[in-house]
Amino acid sequence: MVSMTRNDQSTQGNNSRTQEENSRSGSPAVAEVPDCSYPRFLGTLRDVVSRSYRGLSLTPKYKPLYMSRFLEEKFLVVADLEAVHEVLDNSSVFVNKDAAPSSMRELFGEESLFTMDGEEHARQRSIMRPAFSAVLRQSYISTAQDSSRRMLDYISECMRSGRKFDTHRVFEQHFISIIIQMTTGRFLRDSSLSESEFNHLASLYTDFNKGLIALPFFPNRLRAIKAREELMMEYEKKIEETLVRSKEEIDLLRDTKGIEGGSSDIKFDVLTAMCAASSLSTGSRIDAKSHRELRTMSQLLLLLWFAGFTTQTNTLMNCVLEIGLNDKLRKSLVEEQQVVMTKNGNELKVSEVLREMPLMTSFVHEVLRMYPPVPTWFKRASQDTDILGFTVKKGQRVMLDLAGTMRDEAYFEDGQKLIPERFMNNPRIEKYKTTPFGGAGNAHYCLGSQLALLNLKATMCTMLREYDLELDQNQSKKHFWIPEVLPASGVRFSRMERRAA
Ligand code: HEM
Repeated sequence: MVSMTRNDQSTQGNNSRTQEENSRSGSPAVAEVPDCSYPRFLGTLRDVVSRSYRGLSLTPKYKPLYMSRFLEEKFLVVADLEAVHEVLDNSSVFVNKDAAPSSMRELFGEESLFTMDGEEHARQRSIMRPAFSAVLRQSYISTAQDSSRRMLDYISECMRSGRKFDTHRVFEQHFISIIIQMTTGRFLRDSSLSESEFNHLASLYTDFNKGLIALPFFPNRLRAIKAREELMMEYEKKIEETLVRSKEEIDLLRDTKGIEGGSSDIKFDVLTAMCAASSLSTGSRIDAKSHRELRTMSQLLLLLWFAGFTTQTNTLMNCVLEIGLNDKLRKSLVEEQQVVMTKNGNELKVSEVLREMPLMTSFVHEVLRMYPPVPTWFKRASQDTDILGFTVKKGQRVMLDLAGTMRDEAYFEDGQKLIPERFMNNPRIEKYKTTPFGGAGNAHYCLGSQLALLNLKATMCTMLREYDLELDQNQSKKHFWIPEVLPASGVRFSRMERRAA
């Protein structure tokens, strides 16, 4: 027996068709929420082995709501896009605390931004916010372009010399490199960070990530916990170093009320800005009293690095696959960029990247619609409430099917098809651009959404403008969904060469 019924009335044997019929006829009486614990949301063992995503077939069949299991825990699945937004827009009722499956809660910890709400959540968000300040954006765009050139030259060199490389790994390194640069001002190939140190860091993140959808006591999960502890220790060390090394900048930022307070000429990296927004004292070693704040700061860094790592890598993989296999799209994107660059003296500026390339913008949102790097997300009802008129009891955990609902034909014509121009001049679906990032009305809305769009577009702009690339034409367009949404056979270049200047 499932506790969710619409208006507390239940009817036997209902499905989404009868629900639609009922709401069209104005009848309030709709069925019990179907229970699809078998086959489960993540699917049967066969689905897991074939790495497909059962939600894509369950959601159209049982929308708008059904019960299912995810990692052996029971959730109310929200399988309709408007209902997803109803939950996301109502963050005072649908909270993050105790919402996610235990593997995720264990890995992030109870005191992570992801897993807390209310005042402490708002306070921690404000410590992290300077990292995404508009003042820093122009430096991010040049960082992204420099790092892209390094990455693409590396691929090109590997291809010339016949050295094997894994595109996914190279893209991961690109984004970690950007995050390291933005947080600490250091680059991957700086003398201060050796390649082996870097690879070690990247593998800790990979291990951490793999633990997120692992069952308890699986080796993946234990490895992930170990990786998390090592990363946290590393961050604590970095924060302590910054408090001593950047004392002057931190004090100045505090005096001038932070980045947005007009301190744009102060030289700082994100870690310095975050230290300034924290309550940690500068210049001296951390005492026992401040240890909790130090732990908070390293949790925030863990999240900052983690959140921007696989999400951007996987989206870039999916974007490059589409560009590589669609000549017309590639040409149109190059032309669009040329117009903007010519107008602006051959420089790529933030405002253009974010606002003046409608095809590029629409294309990235369309890739995120088809292949959201966070396909499901979790919330918990903190009081008795309802979703689309269905009663939801306090404590009920809900799983938002961001991937399945974003392909719903009721909202997106030819929803299963990738149409790069879909989001151009289309006010009807404008709001859903924010869905893959957690929905704009949500207190936990992705802090890095603008940064992600900037990085992804700047990377693709550099790639299209400065390099000739081709993909192996036999490359499959199939996707794997487990553990991440990625091209099944990776991305295989058959050509990558820097164009003569
Ligand atoms: C395509 C890329 C990305 C996608 C699709 C994405 C998606 C998401 C989603 C779905 C959430 C959860 C919202 C919730 O809890 O309700 C989230 C939160 C978050 N994201 Fe992103 N993200 C992306 C990139 C980034 C980047 C690059 C960063 C930073 C470097 C970042 C930082 C964060 C942070 C800090 C949060 C937690 C916000 C909070 O709990 O208050 N994200 N993101």
